Amino acid sequence: MALTTLEPPKQPETIRVPEIEKGVGCNFSDYLLVPDTSLDARNAAAKESLGERVVILGHHYQRDEVVKFADFRGDSLKLSQQAAAQTRAQFIVFCGVHFMAESADILRQPYQQVILPDLNAGCSLADMADIGQVEDCWAALEAVGGLRVLPVTYMNSTAAIKAFTGRHGGSICTSSNAAKVLRWAFTQGERVLFLPDEHLGRNTAYRMDIPLEAMVVWDPHRTLGGLTPDQLRRARVILWKGYCSVHQRFLPEHVERVRREHPGIRVIAHPECRWEVCQLADEIGSTEGILKAVTSSPPGSRWAVGTEIHLVNRLAKQNPDKLVVSLDPNVCVCTTMFRIAPQHLCWVLENLVGGRVVNRIQVDGETRRWARVALERMLSLA
Ligand code: 13P
Ligand code: SF4
Repeated sequence: MALTTLEPPKQPETIRVPEIEKGVGCNFSDYLLVPDTSLDARNAAAKESLGERVVILGHHYQRDEVVKFADFRGDSLKLSQQAAAQTRAQFIVFCGVHFMAESADILRQPYQQVILPDLNAGCSLADMADIGQVEDCWAALEAVGGLRVLPVTYMNSTAAIKAFTGRHGGSICTSSNAAKVLRWAFTQGERVLFLPDEHLGRNTAYRMDIPLEAMVVWDPHRTLGGLTPDQLRRARVILWKGYCSVHQRFLPEHVERVRREHPGIRVIAHPECRWEVCQLADEIGSTEGILKAVTSSPPGSRWAVGTEIHLVNRLAKQNPDKLVVSLDPNVCVCTTMFRIAPQHLCWVLENLVGGRVVNRIQVDGETRRWARVALERMLSLA
């Protein structure tokens, strides 16, 4: 079923950077005793003393106390482009979640090191597909025979699944370029296996005029994904059964209620939201797309936003001449993004000042090579 037989790309030449012993030096537990508010000056001083040796990337969901130190902020596409473009800095500190830092490590230069301020900042969506399950799925699809499937994998996935995607001729996508990548994928194969976010896959394919009947959901816990060979033959998109626990909380009732409470309000939803919610929304956008839509709207505009609360609150603060509310009145927070506190940032920066690298994210060589193929394919399409 594999559409292309790929030779592994050449390993980039490695320039060795002395790796400093992990966890030695400034002790993180000491930082926990320091209140958030007192860390601004220390974070600023550490960053200044590191100068061009460090670049800080911050996702839109990061809290204000952290993201204000970012040299670049953005959605995961913009940040991966930034990570690939950084050639001066020796250290890339990624204020985001684990898969984002892994992607930066895959795209970095050989002489750079990527740091995630808190190693516990994971992603519940990325955790919904493990490489063993994906390999089993692929073998089962091959056994059906004649399906001509190409994998398209959302950025929110482990490096191992990105590498699987590269090995099988597929591409990574993000929430802002999923349609472009899917269009390309259909020039390469007949069907797409879309991993691991069912909602992003369905929302994107539906907007490309692929009917719901041509999409099936692969449940990794059931034999042949809970599907028949016939259903697979009729499908154009095989959606992995995975979702973001934050975005799945938004419901059609929320859209109806906000429209009752604020007649005429515009609803904008992240494409990780359920299909039913996206159908009711006026607009769908990645975090960067949401930011652009709200920021560029005229004064007096009113927005109900279906995404993580830190971005919604920041948009409300930065647009005092507009009404910006969360689509879910019960606060949708990404608890793993929230793990990156000013204390973690200060700890990693002050360690760097002291010549120590802590919390380095390092993807192994073979995984990195193939994952880079899939990421670079996306970047060339984006
Ligand atoms: P973006 O692609 O909009 O950055 O979204 C990433 C993410 O994790 C949303 O939950
Ligand atoms: Fe992952 Fe959802 Fe958090 Fe995004 S909001 S990082 S998809 S858990």
